[in-house]
Formats: sequence, structure tokens, C-alpha cells
Amino acid sequence: MAVVEVNLPQHRYRVVIEPGLLPRLGALVREAAPHGQAALLADRALGATHGAAVESALRAAGYRVLYRDFPAGEDHKNLDTVRDLYTALLDAHLERGSPVVALGGGVVTDTAGFVAATYLRGVPLVTCPTTLLAMVDAAVGGKTGVNVPQGKNLIGSFYQPRLVAIDPEVLATLPVRELRGGLAECVKHGVIRDPELFEFIERNVAAILRRQTGVLGELVERNVRIKAAVVMADEKETGERAHLNFGHTFAHAIEATCAGGMGAAGSYEHGEAVALGMVAATALAVACGRCPQAVGTQLKALLERLGLPTCAPDLAPTAILLDAMRLDKKVAGGRIRLVLPDRMGGVSIVSDTPDDAIAAAWEAIRGA
Ligand SMILES: NC(=O)c1ccc[n+]([C@@H]2O[C@H](COP(=O)([O-])OP(=O)(O)OC[C@H]3O[C@@H](n4cnc5c(N)ncnc54)[C@H](O)[C@@H]3O)[C@@H](O)[C@H]2O)c1
Repeated sequence: MAVVEVNLPQHRYRVVIEPGLLPRLGALVREAAPHGQAALLADRALGATHGAAVESALRAAGYRVLYRDFPAGEDHKNLDTVRDLYTALLDAHLERGSPVVALGGGVVTDTAGFVAATYLRGVPLVTCPTTLLAMVDAAVGGKTGVNVPQGKNLIGSFYQPRLVAIDPEVLATLPVRELRGGLAECVKHGVIRDPELFEFIERNVAAILRRQTGVLGELVERNVRIKAAVVMADEKETGERAHLNFGHTFAHAIEATCAGGMGAAGSYEHGEAVALGMVAATALAVACGRCPQAVGTQLKALLERLGLPTCAPDLAPTAILLDAMRLDKKVAGGRIRLVLPDRMGGVSIVSDTPDDAIAAAWEAIRGA
């Protein structure tokens, strides 16, 4: 069993990573939030499998369990789902001390986390992430929230869990496109903080894609350590936590302009857009003389081996992409803030990049 401690000024909790953990979760939840009743809020797609296992584990540990599921996917990460969950908790008379256990990917941990943060002004939260992205990113660090028609994640709260319980075995059933989405964030962690993690991924591409549990467990642990360290240094994203946005300003512009967005372009999942965004940001850093070319070469090679895109001929026109970047909520005072690599394992926040240099980075990933 691997344990990563998250120590914040007001909160302290453990991230426990262990294959086969979910069916034995009851005792850990009892330590973190002892009470007679718990709510298990789960991804509907996992109900018959992991949902049933966690429900039995909680019952075996002496909890009366309110089980509610809802469909994952961004369309359900909204205030309607939150209202339905509030109603269920109120009808079941869940009390201040009753833990909410969130079981699912980032959509479930963000939505159920927000419910836990606000129901009765906050009840204990236990997250059990089931996608790689949620394990290495969404479930650790306390950002909770939902989407509204005006934009993604605009309503939410910083609310730290009491416990994060990760069972890497659940990744066996994760669709490969979702696995790759999580891998893009793992590569990101390597580039921003940890050359050894980057090398670990390079050495283990085949085992990762075969879902070898031991390798996935180590991958998750290494990434959770990085996410936890960044959050401990800057819980509310006033500084260094913004490094986690490496590749994301470009990615958000791709997502905003791809099919269904502002322009007519190809369709990319978040992790695919992040992969392209990291390649663009690195090309920009290399072109500005901030970063050695070798970092860009290594990054592209690893992303390609993982099955992630590194060029995108079908992007929206560059002028539209630049407009989308300016609309990103991370823009400060009208300037596009970018996280650019200085070397493998180190990045800086840069706000004075000329538009023509950013435009050239977009051209670099068109594959022309
Ligand atoms: N709070 C944060 O710090 C933070 C960080 C990054 C991302 N996020 C949020 O996370 C969300 C994306 O999370 P996601 O990619 O996990 O999406 P998701 O929760 O929608 O899950 C993706 C898909 O995988 C399925 N799934 C989940 N676990 C599975 C398993 N073990 N086996 C088979 N299928 C499984 C789900 O049913 C869904 O269809 C976004 O809303 C994003 O804003 C939050």
C-alpha cells in the first residue's frame, strides 16, 4: 500500500493507493469519517461493478448507505445534477458528520465534491477516483465544481477531501481513449516537475498500455506525489499551482473551437487537446530560445508512443484560436498567460509573448 500525505495549513489527509482496495474500503472510510450513515454518489456506468463493491464495503463497516448514481460526462456536471443530489441527501436526512463517498471519474468527483462542500455547509468527503485523470489530477487538491451555460467549472469551491482512495485495478475497464487522456496529464507532470517521471513513462509505455497493475500503481503514486506537492505549495492557485496549466491555454482554445465550438474544426478529447497544447507551448518556448529543442523532440516522441496526437491539420484558423485564448479564464489583464518549459522538469509563467510568436506555435502543430 502506498500512502501520500497531503498537509495543508487547515487540512491534512491521506491518498491511499492499493490494488484491490475498493472492496476493502469500509475500514478506511470509518477511520476518516466515523458515522452511522454515508452517501455513495457514483458514476451510473460503474453501478453494477465497482458501485456494488463499495456499497457492500461501506455496509460491512457499519454504515447505512444512501446510494445515488448519475451519468458521467460533461453534460451532467451541472446544477441540475447538484439539485437532484441535494434532494436525495435531504430526503435521507444525511447529517453533518455523514461522509459523502464520490466514486467515478473527474465529473463525479468534481460534482459530488461540490455537493459535499455545500450540503449543510460541508460534510466529510471521500473520493474514489476511477479514471487515470481523476486519480492523478481531479481527486487530489480540493477543486470541486460544476459547469454552467456560461462556461466550464465557473461555479465551485476549494474543498479538501478527508481521504482519497485509489484502486489502480479499476483502470482495467477504462476505455483506451480515457486512459490516454490521463496519460497526457502524467506526461505534463513530468515536463513541469520531474524528469524521472518522464523517463519512467518512456521506459514503461508498453506495460502502461497493457494496464499492468503494478506499473499503473507506481505511475499513479509518482503523479499523486507531484500533484500533492504543487497543491501543498499553493493550495488556492495564487502562484505555482498555475504550472499545472502547462499546455492548457492552447488546449482550451482547441476545445472551444473544435466541432460544436466556435469554429468548424476536428474533434479532440481534453487529453488529446492537452497533448497538442503541450507540443505547441514547447515549440513556442524553443522558438523564443527559452528551452532546448531536445525537450520538444522527447515530448513529441513520447506522446506519439502513447497514441496521443502531436499535430492537428484540422484546427480552426489561427485568428479564431488566438481569440479563444484571450477568452480563457486564466487570461490576466487581457494578456495571454502561458506556462512554458525552460528545461525537462521546469516551467515558467510568461505573460509577454507576442501574438505572432503564439500564432507561429499554432502553425507548428498543424503539421504543415
Ligand atoms: N478538480 C480538479 O482539479 C480537476 C482536474 C482535472 C480535471 N477535472 C475535471 O474532470 C473532468 C473529466 O474527468 P474524467 O476524464 O475522469 O471524465 P468522466 O468522469 O466523464 O469519465 C470519463 C468516462 O469514463 C467512464 N469511466 C470512469 N471510470 C471508469 C472505469 N474504471 N471503467 C470504465 N469506465 C469508466 C465514465 O463513465 C465516463 O464515460 C472534467 O469535468 C474536468 O473539468 C477536475
